[in-house]
Amino acid sequence: MQKTPNDTQPIIEARGVTKTFDGIEAVSGLNLTVPPGICFGLLGPNGAGKTTTLRMLYGVSEPSQGQIKIFGMDVGRNTRAVRARLGVTLQDNVMMENMSSRDNLFIHGRHHLIGEALLAQRVAELLEFLEIGADADKKVLKLSGGFKRRLSIAMSLINAPELLILDEPTTGLDPAVRHALWSKIRGLKGDGKTILLTTHYMDEAERLCDQVMIINGGKAIRQGAPRQLIEDELYPNALEFDCSSEEEQRLLEGASELVKLRTGTRLMVFAKDTEQILTRLQKLDGGNRRAAIQRPANLEDVFLAVTGTHLEDG
Ligand SMILES: Nc1ncnc2c1ncn2[C@@H]1O[C@H](COP(=O)(O)OP(=O)(O)OP(=O)(O)O)[C@@H](O)[C@H]1O
Ligand SMILES: [Mg+2]
Repeated sequence: MQKTPNDTQPIIEARGVTKTFDGIEAVSGLNLTVPPGICFGLLGPNGAGKTTTLRMLYGVSEPSQGQIKIFGMDVGRNTRAVRARLGVTLQDNVMMENMSSRDNLFIHGRHHLIGEALLAQRVAELLEFLEIGADADKKVLKLSGGFKRRLSIAMSLINAPELLILDEPTTGLDPAVRHALWSKIRGLKGDGKTILLTTHYMDEAERLCDQVMIINGGKAIRQGAPRQLIEDELYPNALEFDCSSEEEQRLLEGASELVKLRTGTRLMVFAKDTEQILTRLQKLDGGNRRAAIQRPANLEDVFLAVTGTHLEDG
């Protein structure tokens, strides 16, 4: 007997999920709970295990260990029932290049066994929603990357899914197209859909995601709301400038309550009050002032800090 989802039942519930390839754990004991109606971001460096995790969640790859429930159903045992209610946009676009966007949408809809009248209505709505109507009858191979990405997302929405899984939805897109897609993703969330996405753009995660999980080497290392993670890991303000280790020592001698993050010659200092440090830096520089950037700490700083760039407490 399948359970009917209710407001409190998580849409995704993964417990102790591990995936081993040739004896190596690509995903290691992952626990993931995604409640309905939120946008959840899975973040991590290249090879962290994001795509592998998504593949297990939508049932094309079996976990080596652990349980996954989607809509309260075991994915391995109810793959069809789960798939009928979810939409997936893969990391690479998968579509028939020799056909038009409209035909791709129709073919995809028929795979889902959607009746012709309803399908025609959905295709028209999706072409309009993702603003691809004007190019709907052009062959896909003639479309730009941004339009192909929009088509990919339109295809994943053909079955009016309750859960949308997006693997790097905006990689390689220009800023205008990214903004357009963000607004579509927000619109889908506003309609009550649950969204799980991966991204390498921390600004995107910060804007879209209610919750994020940072994974590294297949293991979850941090989870929370983006703002909360920034508060927990760093101080609210950042000061960024080029500086040698020797200068750094002189500059920060005796300073406390700060976090430092160095990538090559670039030093980022996080503190409550970066103004004070800036004044010391300007004194150190004398008349020859170097360029320094003062800005609020962000999720990218947290990502760099927790995934391995050298970090020290002051
Ligand atoms: N079919 C496979 N066979 C063997 N190893 C695999 C397979 N699929 C993935 N891996 C390995 O699992 C690890 C995680 O890969 P995955 O594609 O999940 O990373 P990712 O976080 O999505 O990275 P990216 O940001 O580059 O997309 C990598 O070391 C990868 O080489
Ligand atoms: Mg990937």
